[in-house]
Amino acid sequence: MNESKLNEIKASEPKKIWPHHLKDMKQRGEKIAMLTAYDALMARMFDQAGIDVILVGDSLGMVLLGYSTTLPVTLDEMVHHTKAVVRGTRRALVVADMPFLTYQVSAEEAVRNAGRLIQEGGANSVKLEGGRNIAETVARLVEVGIPVMGHLGLNPQSVNQLGGFRQQAKTREDARRLIEDAHALESAGAYSIVLESIPEDLARDVTAELSISTIGIGAGPHCDGQVLVCYDALGMTGDGTPSFAKRYAQLGAEIVAAAKHYSEEVKEGGFPAHKRVAS
Ligand code: KIV
Repeated sequence: MNESKLNEIKASEPKKIWPHHLKDMKQRGEKIAMLTAYDALMARMFDQAGIDVILVGDSLGMVLLGYSTTLPVTLDEMVHHTKAVVRGTRRALVVADMPFLTYQVSAEEAVRNAGRLIQEGGANSVKLEGGRNIAETVARLVEVGIPVMGHLGLNPQSVNQLGGFRQQAKTREDARRLIEDAHALESAGAYSIVLESIPEDLARDVTAELSISTIGIGAGPHCDGQVLVCYDALGMTGDGTPSFAKRYAQLGAEIVAAAKHYSEEVKEGGFPAHKRVAS
C-alpha cells in the first residue's frame, strides 16, 4: 500500500478521546455525551454514534445482573465487562467503575485494583465515588499514571448510609461540603467529576468553579456533559427508569413484541417456513 493511501486511511480513522480532551471540550463549551455500556455489541454501536465517553458502570449489577444495589458487584465482574466494552470501542474514552470496597481500604489496594481495570480490562480510566475521604487515594492513582473520574452527590455505593437512592446536597451546609469535595478531587488530580442527583443550581455552581469537566445525571442542564444508564435511555428498564432519564427509544416494548411474535410463529408452525418442492 502506498503512503498516500495509508494517510487517507489514517485521516478517516476516528480520533481517539483521551481524558485530557474532556478539559479541552469544557474550555471550548462543547458538551460531553456519555452513556454506560456493559458489552462489546452495545459499545460498538455507541462508538459509531459518536458517544464521547463509555462508562462501564457498576450499575451493571442492577440493570444486567438483577441485584437491587451496586454493592454485590465484584472486581472480576468489572474486569470481564470492561474487556468486552474495550473490544467494541475505537474512539470513545472507556471509563470503568471501581466496585465497592476495592478502593476504600487503602491507597495501595486501590492502585492494585485500578491497575487490573487498566491492565487486564483495557480501560483508559477508572471512576471512584467520594470526595475528601478518597482524595489521597485519587492522588496516588494519578501519580502512578491512572486517570481518575470522580463521582459526587448520590453515591450509590453508600445507599445504606443515605437511606435509599434520593437527591443529595439539598441543604446549604451539604452543598458547601459538596463544593469542597469537588475542589479536593480537582486538587488531587481528577480530570472530571460525575454529579449525580443534586439540585441544578448547585451543579451549575460546581461546574463554574472547576476547571475540570462535570458530567451530570439528574443534576440539570448546566453540567459540561451528561450521562445516562444506557438501558434507561433505550427504554428497556420499564418502571425502574428514574424520572430524570429521557427515553430515546422504546426497545423494551419492541423486544417483548418481537419475542411474542416469534413464539406464536413457532407454536403455529409459521417459522421456519416450509420450502416449496419443485415439481
Ligand atoms: O454505575 C453507573 O452507571 C454510574 C452512572 C450512574 C454515573 O455510576
